[in-house]
Amino acid sequence: METLDQLVQEAEADFAAAVDGAALEQAKARYLGKSGSLTERLKALGKLAPEERREAGAAINRAKDAIERALEARRTALREAALLTQLAAEALDVTLPGRESVTGGLHPVSRTLERIEGLFRSIGFIVADGPEIETDWHNFTALNTPENHPARSMHDTFYLEGHDDVLLRTHTSPVQIRAMQDHVARHAGSEHMPELRLIAPGRVYRVDSDATHSPMFHQVEGLWVGENVSFADLKGVIADFLRKFFETEDLQVRFRPSFFPFTEPSAEIDVAFMSGALEGRWLEIAGCGMVHPNVLRFGGIDPERYTGFAFGMGPDRLTMLRYGVNDLRLFFEGDLRFLSQFR
Ligand code: FA5
Ligand code: MG
Repeated sequence: METLDQLVQEAEADFAAAVDGAALEQAKARYLGKSGSLTERLKALGKLAPEERREAGAAINRAKDAIERALEARRTALREAALLTQLAAEALDVTLPGRESVTGGLHPVSRTLERIEGLFRSIGFIVADGPEIETDWHNFTALNTPENHPARSMHDTFYLEGHDDVLLRTHTSPVQIRAMQDHVARHAGSEHMPELRLIAPGRVYRVDSDATHSPMFHQVEGLWVGENVSFADLKGVIADFLRKFFETEDLQVRFRPSFFPFTEPSAEIDVAFMSGALEGRWLEIAGCGMVHPNVLRFGGIDPERYTGFAFGMGPDRLTMLRYGVNDLRLFFEGDLRFLSQFR
């Protein structure tokens, strides 16, 4: 018969060979179960003489302890191994590049419009708007450009089919007329009309297309009407705005004498940078001038008492200058490879 030591060694080897909990429990039964080999030895004790029984019983108990310790050690080892396998299976590689969530962004021209609105609001201008489908009267006549006036041919106008007096506005200047009329109506009967200070951003349309002209483009109209508003105020507001908008003093601004039927005197505003990608290139960004007395009258305002200046600038051109883009049409083609650079 095997010695107890051999039995213990055999049990240890058996436990070590068990690959999982179920195999281990089966191995356990072979030694400690109802008819396990160690259990059989305990049963056999009864047949021994009393004086032998003591010593043999103690030896069997020591062997039983050893087998139980080996069993417990293997149980623990199997549990830890199972845990490690599970952890390895569920492991996340935190060094993998993340999955990008696609976020949208504002269109570069929308950013420019927000910037312009913010800057003018900060000096007390309100933001107004008007319809894109406009009457011929608001777009031309009330802006001192009667029918057959040669200035009408300055704008290549989209007319609505079957309506020769309804058109897509060619500029934001008709908002001047609507805003003056509203303002006058709101303050009718009061002795002192408060100053009117507004900008009106929006889309305008002309039959026109090249690198600096698009058939749909944006303008921001500006209007300041009050007592003693002068051309010096106009120059100050514009120069200040441009320095803040471009966040640089490295900028030249030129007021070039020009003609608009709705302003007198009139000028076009050109901008050039003294450094950077667009260095030295002048770009026209706005037209402006002192509001013509006839236009004030069409708006319901007394030109003997009030004066005003107006301007109409091209935020698309401002966006080109700000980001160094050399073709305006890129803004309106909807190509995400271009647009996503501004996110
Ligand atoms: C006008 O439209 C006048 N209404 C501006 C004005 C307002 C003058 C108030 C006086 C008082 P002009 O056609 O120059 O002017 O256009 C004004 C600006 O719009 C231009 O300086 C330019 O920056 C921009 N612009 C004009 N045409 C286009 C176009 N096709 N594409 C992009 N920007 C344009
Ligand atoms: Mg012009």
